[in-house]
Amino acid sequence: MKITVVGAGAVGATTADNIARAGLADELVILDIKEGFAEGKAQDINQTAALLGFDTRVTGTTGDYTKTAGSEVVVITSGLPRKPGMTREELIGTNAGIVRGVAENILKNSPDAIIVVVSNPMDTMTYLALQATGLPKNRVIGMGGALDSARFKYQLSQHLGASPSDLNAVVIGGHGDTTMIPLIRFATWNSVPVTKFLSEEQQKQIVADTMVGGATLTKLLGTSAWYAPGAAGCSVVKSIVRDEKKLITSCVLLDGEYGQKDIALGVPVIIGRNGVEKILDFGLNAEEQAAFDKSAEAVRSMNDVLKTL
Ligand code: 2OP
Repeated sequence: MKITVVGAGAVGATTADNIARAGLADELVILDIKEGFAEGKAQDINQTAALLGFDTRVTGTTGDYTKTAGSEVVVITSGLPRKPGMTREELIGTNAGIVRGVAENILKNSPDAIIVVVSNPMDTMTYLALQATGLPKNRVIGMGGALDSARFKYQLSQHLGASPSDLNAVVIGGHGDTTMIPLIRFATWNSVPVTKFLSEEQQKQIVADTMVGGATLTKLLGTSAWYAPGAAGCSVVKSIVRDEKKLITSCVLLDGEYGQKDIALGVPVIIGRNGVEKILDFGLNAEEQAAFDKSAEAVRSMNDVLKTL
């Protein structure tokens, strides 16, 4: 199994580190455009192998896509991260050109790869990767829902005094501060609805804090977060590589599901060796569907910006 991570910045390197530690690949390639950077990250990760006990061979390359040839899964993290006060959407001008070029180069060298998109604005970059590669919709997956759902569980765990891994909770819609939809009605604590234990006020707070989860960290760190994004990226890769068939909310191309077409947006999906294997219908109520439609409208207007670039 050969996996490539494009972009050796904090999110890319952390994703690669998680993939190596989990032993998901025999060969892991990190590619970056900054001279020597990916090579350095690869060597650093390799030097943890004796300590952590993994056998993945990690290599780095400065922009040579031939080194990524034959990858079965490729994670795209390239592009600028946001700065404090910035929205993910403000990155579109710079990141669209970068992601388009990366997607085209990946396809040339790894025509059978499944692509996992992490770059922001993630929903629009996933749509762009689908357009740029012409790949079938099962092979392009945006990572946002895995991350936002983990942040949702973190917020719930704080209010409930629960272990995050005892919680089941998903965020659908866009990966934006105002477009994501934490589905609190469906969230459970070992099968019991969390709403049983939380006041209306607490529920509102949890939803609001989840939505600005990334922005809160950007403000604290001066750049966007990397540990949870890296772990989330790896969780999607793991479900593909090991054919886990995990239910992970992911940004995928919709063709009528959840009432939307020609848009990539976060919905609950089964991720396995073929990428997106099934989209599940959670049966949204009128209020949740209205929020989903509003999210789609915002992401669609972002996608329209692509035509002007
Ligand atoms: C985040 O929410 C990087 O978009 C990513 O932290």
